[in-house]
Amino acid sequence: MTDFWWKSAVVYQIYPRSFADADGDGMGDLRGIINHLDHLAELGVDVIWLSPIYTSPQDDNGYDISDYRDIDPLFGTLEIFDELLRGVHERGMKLIMDLVVNHSSDEHAWFAESRSSIDNPKRDWYWWRPAREGMEAGTPGAEPNNWGSVFGGPAWEFDQKTGEYYLHLFSTKQPDLNWENPEVREAVYDMMRWWLDRGVDGFRMDVINMISKDVALPDGRIKAGSLYGDGSDAYINGPRNHEFLREMHERVFAGRPGMLTVGEMPGVTVDEAKLFTDQSRGEVDMVFQFDHVWADRGDDPWLLVPLKLTVLKGILGRWQAGLAATGWNSLYWNNHDQPRAVSRYGDDSPEHRVASAKMLGTVLHMQRGTPYIYQGEELGMTNYPFASIADFRDIEALGQYAQAIEFEGRTPEQVLTVLRARGRDNARTPMQWSAEAHAGFTTAHPWLPVNPNYLSINAADERDDPDSVFHYYRRLIELRHTEPAVADGDFTMLLPNDERLYAFTRRLAGTELLVIGNFTAEPVRADIPDAAAWSSAELLLTNLATPPGDDLTLGPWQAVVYRR
Ligand code: GLC
Repeated sequence: MTDFWWKSAVVYQIYPRSFADADGDGMGDLRGIINHLDHLAELGVDVIWLSPIYTSPQDDNGYDISDYRDIDPLFGTLEIFDELLRGVHERGMKLIMDLVVNHSSDEHAWFAESRSSIDNPKRDWYWWRPAREGMEAGTPGAEPNNWGSVFGGPAWEFDQKTGEYYLHLFSTKQPDLNWENPEVREAVYDMMRWWLDRGVDGFRMDVINMISKDVALPDGRIKAGSLYGDGSDAYINGPRNHEFLREMHERVFAGRPGMLTVGEMPGVTVDEAKLFTDQSRGEVDMVFQFDHVWADRGDDPWLLVPLKLTVLKGILGRWQAGLAATGWNSLYWNNHDQPRAVSRYGDDSPEHRVASAKMLGTVLHMQRGTPYIYQGEELGMTNYPFASIADFRDIEALGQYAQAIEFEGRTPEQVLTVLRARGRDNARTPMQWSAEAHAGFTTAHPWLPVNPNYLSINAADERDDPDSVFHYYRRLIELRHTEPAVADGDFTMLLPNDERLYAFTRRLAGTELLVIGNFTAEPVRADIPDAAAWSSAELLLTNLATPPGDDLTLGPWQAVVYRR
């Protein structure tokens, strides 16, 4: 038995606006989720993480919240939410909410007050600063510092009313909350307790390693070809980050065992993650690190760097080793901010899509940590064939495109090439439920087009097909539940210098598992110690009809899990 239930659990992420539309407005909603809970129960996941459903102007699809204690009418009501939560619990699953408290919406009542006057009691709830010394407020270059925002443009917005600027690391409609102010922190904790009292089982914490800033807000280094300074040294894992998370833990989670907390932490290092997830420190249970999803991005954001398997294994192996004794890993290939796993790390051609999607699932789910499945990944859904920038809806894609073309001298084709491969809208096209119109997602015009491949990739077909990605994922989840070495075993990487095979063992007491994934469309022999003995061990799982022979030669995109 593991010490924490989430060590043998699998989490499923729902992006509500793209999951299922029940009220026929082209946008997913809570009733749509309720209608499809059996899909998730059949898959066997333990936890559902809902991307934000709170009241929001939807500038960043709900990651801009104007009321933390209500449901956006697009998605439903608190009553429907309670019904959803009951439906989840009745099926033996748990539900965690997205907690977006690095920033609120500029339409939140807190910000309306804060911006109303310099001496408003909530002025200090956000980061207000006068213009740079000697500069005229509101003129170009007069921003308090040189930081750029993640979605393009400066990280400061001038506010006519009081003649000062406010900080927004994301869009202008996402002003950063000032966590230095204890009232802000207490307001957040109170809201979190309110949701836990309602019955939710924990939180996924949005960019939670950005909440503490160096209060001097110093200029950042300007990289070649870039317009703005990179302020991340001052706000990634800032001076009081650990203190704030410990305080949150005490104020919110004390006396409530069994909750799950996962911190989204772009730029977090292994050493920091060890501290964040050390249970004796009481901060969070696990973090989302970004090293492996940034491995194919170079210094120039508008150049695609081909990903080498040795680099990927180096990164994930370092995370496995780093958190082996203290702390815990989250495992993910994709989410609502990343392109589709099979298109990025596998081969989404009709010939290899199914095999490579299963192989990727195997390599991830058999590692030590808690796996996260993003909606549609269990079907092997792929990237979308974007024709032009007009096909994108994501504020990040549109903002970065405008900045790159208008101010940084890039060509539309260069930027589009990267957005096609990496853009977040790849993950946000509607869930493909069936071969009916609009993939069964909606009866109306969907807010983002359905991938045209829904006729051959959809849940209805896959649930009927025992060889589908869906049923393979079901077995992967089942293995985590039933084989203790998957949840608790130690991890040893094999063949670190091999560019074609991802191979490792897991060991617990007398049981050893061998996992190998072939990242190519060619047969490859696994040159590991003991190959012959392993080839006659019990084959727990493979994704091709033919098992590897005595010499352990894996077929195209083949994955194997042996046990002895
Ligand atoms: C996180 C979310 C992303 C959002 C950003 C700002 O990275 O996952 O979707 O745009 O934070 O809230």
